[in-house]
Amino acid sequence: MSKTKGDSSAEGLIPERRTLPALRAAAADCRACDLWKLGTQTVFGEGPRRAEVLFVGEQPGNEEDLTGKPFVGPAGRLFDAALTEAGIDRTRVYVTNVVKHFKWEPRGKRRIHKKPNAHEIAACRPWLRAEIALIKPKVIVALGATAAQALLGPKFRVTKERGKFLESEFAPYVMATVHPSSILRAPDDETRREERRKFVDDLKKLARMIGK
Ligand code: URA
Ligand code: SF4
Repeated sequence: MSKTKGDSSAEGLIPERRTLPALRAAAADCRACDLWKLGTQTVFGEGPRRAEVLFVGEQPGNEEDLTGKPFVGPAGRLFDAALTEAGIDRTRVYVTNVVKHFKWEPRGKRRIHKKPNAHEIAACRPWLRAEIALIKPKVIVALGATAAQALLGPKFRVTKERGKFLESEFAPYVMATVHPSSILRAPDDETRREERRKFVDDLKKLARMIGK
């Protein structure tokens, strides 16, 4: 297949030796789409090789870009607290993103998150596939629409199907829920509390599924 800009992908960069450190090292040099120019570093997934649950977000944000770790900013802190409430230990789950570089645009002195486009998502997909193939999680949890649609198809609607354990080619079960950032963006305190409660409920279902 010819390599045009439209079909560039990280596929050819996946190392033969499939270990997490080897994947992480190869991804650090990825230039399969233009986002490497914008981000400080590749933010690869993190967690144990034998994790039963693999969480997938959208793409790193400002703090993730600076630290090189997924879900450590405001959304990550909400995520950690919700996991704890649901009785799930974050150190036992694997956490990653659909796209591994921070995409942003300047607003004053701040860097504002910009959604990845279909080309960037497709380019980065081999990394996510390789993480899933290596870890073989029992359950994949998609956080938000970008991750849910990357795993369950473009017609998938989180609002209709959240919290359900669905069969997929990637793992015995895929469950989608909202992205923690969407909870932070709720228009008022009451909505935020309600959305957070529903998020924790989805995570409690997950805890029951994995037998915690
Ligand atoms: N949002 C995401 O989708 N992923 C992160 O790692 C941080 C914020
Ligand atoms: Fe590679 Fe993904 Fe970064 Fe694009 S976003 S350069 S595909 S790691």
